Amino acid sequence: MSSDFIAIGHIDDIPQRGARCINTAFGRIAVFRTAEDDVFAMNDRCPHKGGPLSQGLVHGRAVTCPLHNMVISLESGEALGADEGEVRTYPVRVDDGQLSIALSALPLAAE
Ligand code: FES
Repeated sequence: MSSDFIAIGHIDDIPQRGARCINTAFGRIAVFRTAEDDVFAMNDRCPHKGGPLSQGLVHGRAVTCPLHNMVISLESGEALGADEGEVRTYPVRVDDGQLSIALSALPLAAE
């Protein structure tokens, strides 16, 4: 499985408690960096009405959607609290600051 990871840049390309996006043939994937420098990746599409999660507020290991405030776990992609819904997540590796994402989890190769 490890050979299926592809490089997507350096952790310093992402602000702490922020995100950047990578484009794939099937849509954008948001790559989040927490205040503790953990990195998570998931589809940049809220399960409620498609809000851009990459523009949401990162707090702890969760992100709040900028449109209607649904809170999504960065670890599981599941809505937290009373809300229901799930976002597809992708495994991310951090190796000496270099980030890579599991290619086998992607619908097609990232650009
Ligand atoms: S679109 Fe994200 S909470 Fe509504």
